[in-house]
Amino acid sequence: MLDLKPSATSRSLAIAPGVEHARGKAPASLAVPIYKEELWTSRQRQGNALHEISYRGCFKPQLPNYFLERLSAEADVVYDPFSGRGTTAIEAALLGRRVVANDINPLSAILTRPRLEVPDLADIQVRLRSLRIRASAGADIDLSMFYNRRTESEIVTLRDYLRRRREAREEDAVDRWIRMVATNRLTGHSPGFFSVYTLPPNQAVAPDDQLRINRKLGQKPPYRDTRALILRKSVQLQGQLSASDRERLRSAAARAIFLCADAAATRALPAGGVQLTVTSPPFLDVVQYARDNWLRCWFNGLDAEAVGERITMARTPEEWAASMSRVFAELYRLTAPGGWVAFEVGEVRRGAIRLDEIVVPVGINAGFDCGAVLINAQRFTKTANIWGVENNRLGTNSNRIVLFRKPD
Ligand SMILES: C[S@@+](CC[C@H](N)C(=O)[O-])C[C@H]1O[C@@H](n2cnc3c(N)ncnc32)[C@H](O)[C@@H]1O
Repeated sequence: MLDLKPSATSRSLAIAPGVEHARGKAPASLAVPIYKEELWTSRQRQGNALHEISYRGCFKPQLPNYFLERLSAEADVVYDPFSGRGTTAIEAALLGRRVVANDINPLSAILTRPRLEVPDLADIQVRLRSLRIRASAGADIDLSMFYNRRTESEIVTLRDYLRRRREAREEDAVDRWIRMVATNRLTGHSPGFFSVYTLPPNQAVAPDDQLRINRKLGQKPPYRDTRALILRKSVQLQGQLSASDRERLRSAAARAIFLCADAAATRALPAGGVQLTVTSPPFLDVVQYARDNWLRCWFNGLDAEAVGERITMARTPEEWAASMSRVFAELYRLTAPGGWVAFEVGEVRRGAIRLDEIVVPVGINAGFDCGAVLINAQRFTKTANIWGVENNRLGTNSNRIVLFRKPD
């Protein structure tokens, strides 16, 4: 169970007006205790380096870890319907839980599954060495603003190789690992990435914007040794894995379920099997997942626009509430009696909209009991400081978690 001290800031939660409810009318306020504490920052262990794959809107591993350790046991099924880079899935697997991960963006499983299967570094090195770079290989789109000509031919050779292996159904865990790392290394803001200096790796700017960045900084894409960079990142990712971590990951990989569906329509998953869900949905239309991922989609042969059309982009709180009502109905079906849902949301529109106030009645209407709203009293992240973004104002990392339990 949670070891929360009743905090001075606990109070009744006012329910935002205008919220549509699936069943019945919600009261104007609900007595939901709000705990504002430093839940995991000061006590936290450093997250395992295996998590260090960037993705827009990802949460830190300490967040799922906090709930996994308190609300689930070994071999329990842990689910994330909006899995992103798979933070919940990887942390759950490291703790010996069974993993179910869903995301409507196919990049999610591409970035997550290989980190459960973790191949040996020696095998990755051999596979990379076996690639024959075609110096004449060029992309079907203009990428000259991001890549040196030689770098581009290496990327295109790798892309073609991975496509052939997949089409021939010969893709194995080593290929999938290389695909995941290469996808992560495509663009970024240091020489550890394939591209010339650009935005951080979870956002790819449009080609015209990159041309402007290059002009402003007077830069030309330098050559990057893509295979050396893939190997270096692989060493970093695997650097903290013990033999028993590898064993737990392998066993989770063998039983893991990856789904690429709307979180509200996951019929492929059986009812009542999930002990704990730890998740974070899109916050209205704050993050443009499709636009930010266009280059990652290109590398993986995915249609970024088609992916974008499927992603939930609610323009208003009412639209968002309606969409989350459908998700909660599905979560209720999937959750075991006595099971938990930890649902992380933020403040958006500079704090004017508090999504936790919308989520509480939505979850209750679906049949859950709402135990608490937990606010991690943590002010800034490293990334936020680097990019001059004050997270508390933009509400992209305020860590408000609404905790629900399905009655026994
Ligand atoms: C806030 S991010 C989750 C990040 C994740 N917690 C992590 O640590 O990487 C929200 C995710 O929801 C996905 N998504 C958006 N609409 C969806 C839908 N209708 N069904 C399932 N996933 C969706 C997006 O692709 C994105 O990966």
